[in-house]
Amino acid sequence: MKEFFKGKVVCITGSSQGIGKATALLLGSYGASIALNGRNPEKLQKAHDELTAQGIDCHSIVADISTKEDCKRIVDETVQHFGKLDVLINNAGIASRGRISESDPEAWDQIMQINTMGVINTTYFALPHLEKQNGSVIIISSMAAKVGVPGHAGYSASKMALTAYAKALQIEAHNKVHCGLVYVGFTANENQKQILKPDGTYEAIPQRKGLKLASREDVAKRIARVIVDRKKEITLTVLGKLQHILLKFAPSVVYAMLKKSYKTYDDMYDA
Ligand SMILES: NC(=O)c1ccc[n+]([C@@H]2O[C@H](COP(=O)([O-])OP(=O)(O)OC[C@H]3O[C@@H](n4cnc5c(N)ncnc54)[C@H](OP(=O)(O)O)[C@@H]3O)[C@@H](O)[C@H]2O)c1
Repeated sequence: MKEFFKGKVVCITGSSQGIGKATALLLGSYGASIALNGRNPEKLQKAHDELTAQGIDCHSIVADISTKEDCKRIVDETVQHFGKLDVLINNAGIASRGRISESDPEAWDQIMQINTMGVINTTYFALPHLEKQNGSVIIISSMAAKVGVPGHAGYSASKMALTAYAKALQIEAHNKVHCGLVYVGFTANENQKQILKPDGTYEAIPQRKGLKLASREDVAKRIARVIVDRKKEITLTVLGKLQHILLKFAPSVVYAMLKKSYKTYDDMYDA
């Protein structure tokens, strides 16, 4: 694994905290040069300092993937700074909540622009560079991409769209660029993680109780494996794998669980 990443240039969107930062630290420790990204300059600088303190070669790009200009700038600056691009990890994404009937078009706009169009646009600008290196594009998705999660339809839809995109890209770019789709399960969140509300504003994400959470470092290791082994798809966590199997052989069990989770949502957030 270490040998593979030595000398590689990896661009990770949304790497100022969370899974993105853990992946930057891991791949940087293996000898990759890292292009870091996020919207908040202070948070990004802190991550930059953390990587630099570990001797990792990195370059930070303050940019918002909800605009196509910034998606282009992320790729252009990475290539200008490091001279090439081997791996793009489309990690930046936001969580969202809201019933369909109460979710403002502004909230839908934000979730689709960041989670879906941000990935599509950054990948578009990166593909010519990745082709030169026979590189990889990784798409960080979620268990929520496999079903329509009530109370979180915006998030589900934004990630489910990426499945279609990744499956098509895997065929179109076959032999030229590897595309790996990572269905992440419940993972320990950073304290400052936020969630988009149905009115288009943000609030602190509630703590997850009674769930066994994956660590961000474990998720980073699995992402590294997907790149090295050029895997097309991976589903993380026991719960994620169980959902995957049940959807194939006993989908009604999953739908019963989703109904139950919506009841909990209703109790938490009165209509
Ligand atoms: N945590 C989980 O349980 C879980 C489960 C399934 C899937 N995932 C997926 O894993 C990925 C990372 O999740 P996480 O939990 O690590 O999230 P997180 O802690 O909220 O971190 C998100 C990162 O993305 C950046 N970001 C957000 N919007 C951005 C934008 N428009 N442009 C550029 N950067 C942006 C954030 O920095 P700024 O705010 O400064 O921009 C931050 O660095 C996401 O795609 C998420 O959907 C997570």
